[in-house]
Amino acid sequence: MKLKNKVAIVTGAGSGNGRAIALAFFEEGATVVIADVNEAAAQETVALAPEGSKAMVVKVDVTKKADVDNMVAQTVKEFGHIDILVNNAGIVAFTPFLDLSEAEWDKVHDVNLKGPFLCTQAVAKEMIKANRGGRVVNITSVEAHRVVSSSGSCQPHYNSSKGGLHMLTKATALELSSYGITVNSVAPGVVETPFTERGLQNPAVKEWILERVPAKRVGKPSDIANAVIFLSLDESEYITGSTVFVDGGWTIA
Ligand SMILES: NC(=O)c1ccc[n+]([C@@H]2O[C@H](COP(=O)([O-])OP(=O)(O)OC[C@H]3O[C@@H](n4cnc5c(N)ncnc54)[C@H](O)[C@@H]3O)[C@@H](O)[C@H]2O)c1
Repeated sequence: MKLKNKVAIVTGAGSGNGRAIALAFFEEGATVVIADVNEAAAQETVALAPEGSKAMVVKVDVTKKADVDNMVAQTVKEFGHIDILVNNAGIVAFTPFLDLSEAEWDKVHDVNLKGPFLCTQAVAKEMIKANRGGRVVNITSVEAHRVVSSSGSCQPHYNSSKGGLHMLTKATALELSSYGITVNSVAPGVVETPFTERGLQNPAVKEWILERVPAKRVGKPSDIANAVIFLSLDESEYITGSTVFVDGGWTIA
């Protein structure tokens, strides 16, 4: 139990990677705030927690400042402080650049980039007040670093939102380091979650991916959770502004 007495907020914890991250925090003894726009899905995650786990569900749309402020206020009221924030909530959409609407551009950036901005700012203020340091982990993507276009599926707005989050990680790591707050990214490759379900059901897409991944398998949500746990430990205090690729080696070549 490496995270006993730690309080963690995980956004998008009602599904996929976020759910696995929340469950890994429970296994390490942390108190976890399961924050998701889908409250029923968040409740399902809590139902999977080991008996005796300390948890709270907060319905939050990370694109809305009032929701984010409420999430932070409720957490501090209930548990006293916040030690760890995982900015995991994210959406993907496949549209070629020339067909991309302003509304779709805004939606993807609002969830994937504005959400982490709002959450990190609100949580960091509480971490500084509490004077206990802190850990922020942003879930980016290999697509923050390269354009992936299997079977012609384009997602330029996803690329730019995750590229933006990669740089927000570095900028906030610099500004928050004097408060003992580290900020790092975990960049997944392709992970089997509802997010990728449709694509992975297409044998041609799966083959395209496996040809490029030296580990010869797609990722599991627990692969992502393991990296997040490592970056959340007290022992990782000298790591900040870094990216851990969890991609089976995809980005080596
Ligand atoms: N699955 C992959 O292959 C993969 C690869 C690279 C990066 N990622 C990243 O991992 C993260 C999680 O992805 P996943 O695969 O688990 O997806 P998922 O669709 O299974 O889960 C996303 C969760 O985020 C929640 N969410 C969406 N919009 C929200 C909002 N505005 N406010 C609060 N919650 C919101 C959803 O309700 C859902 O529970 C995302 O940031 C995604 O970009 C996933």
